Amino acid sequence: MAVINNNIYHAKELLDAGELVGIPTETVYGLAGNALSESAVISIFETKNRPSFDPLIIHTNSLDKIKNYVLEIPEQAYRLAQEFWPGPLTLLLPKRKIISDLVTSGLEQVAVRIPNHPLTLQLLSLIDYPLAAPSANPFGYISPTSAKHVDAQLGKKIKLVLDGGEANVGIESTIIGFPNGKPTIYRLGGLSIETIENLIGPISIMAISSSNPVSPGMLKSHYAPSKRFELVDSLPKYADEYSNAGFLLFDKKMDCFLPENQMLLSSSGNLHEAAKNLFSFLRALDTSNVDRIVAQKVPQIGLGRAINDRLERAAAK
Ligand code: TXA
Ligand code: MG
Repeated sequence: MAVINNNIYHAKELLDAGELVGIPTETVYGLAGNALSESAVISIFETKNRPSFDPLIIHTNSLDKIKNYVLEIPEQAYRLAQEFWPGPLTLLLPKRKIISDLVTSGLEQVAVRIPNHPLTLQLLSLIDYPLAAPSANPFGYISPTSAKHVDAQLGKKIKLVLDGGEANVGIESTIIGFPNGKPTIYRLGGLSIETIENLIGPISIMAISSSNPVSPGMLKSHYAPSKRFELVDSLPKYADEYSNAGFLLFDKKMDCFLPENQMLLSSSGNLHEAAKNLFSFLRALDTSNVDRIVAQKVPQIGLGRAINDRLERAAAK
């Protein structure tokens, strides 16, 4: 098991030595290592069992630092950065040579983000290298939103998880790239399309392709529990096969099933609350003794799109 505390100086010591540390962010917990150290980057891929074609996001605490890692910041990227960083936004920008091909899986663009978490921002201000940090889960499994989640799955492989409490947003950052200068969403996430469009106008969404993912977070199957998982448009009527199912519902329980087998993402119908609860509830159902998980889609607006996106990938096989 890893040590769980909030000692950023210990974290810095481990990171300086090329080791990995679990770090809190407002979206999900990350498995962090020195992005400028090839051996640290390799050990991130190994620790997560992550395929090498799935590139990493680098994290820093200032735009000035980011300028050391990217060749240019297009005007619209700059506006997004100014408005939403620190926050649940990742930008794809042309990388400088100092960023290794291992980090970007050979792509020309590097994914960068300034996360909005006080402890991690403090840690980032102490170090003079960026942190490469994918979500701190084994590849393909549910993302962690607490230090305990990280410890439960990667605790044997790392020495320290910084405890920054429960992740506030609960769903990964929205990734935006600029192919041919046109702002494009590569992954739906914690910053809603509506919020982005309010600032920069209409934005397109990259069509999902599982055979040739431009952004492997777009892999069709991802974020998946180990139990049988079904995503339904309309809720099932009572049937014996569902008598021991666990239900992940939006805002209302069903009368025909045991109330204790039903979890509500937000009883008040709040999509921010639903996003915050999504992964921890999915994990709770996956480790409970229900024999399958049945989830309901949430309204397809605001953060609801990102929630539905994760549920669809969890259901894909
Ligand atoms: O909220 C987040 O973004 C969290 C926290 C820890 O910051 N991180 C996260 O990392 O979700 P990860 O590795 O689980 O997902 C990163 C996604 C991957 O799907 C990857 O393919 C995509 O970002 N990505 C990274 N670099 C890319 C690049 N150069 N071009 C396209 N996609 C990229
Ligand atoms: Mg991930």
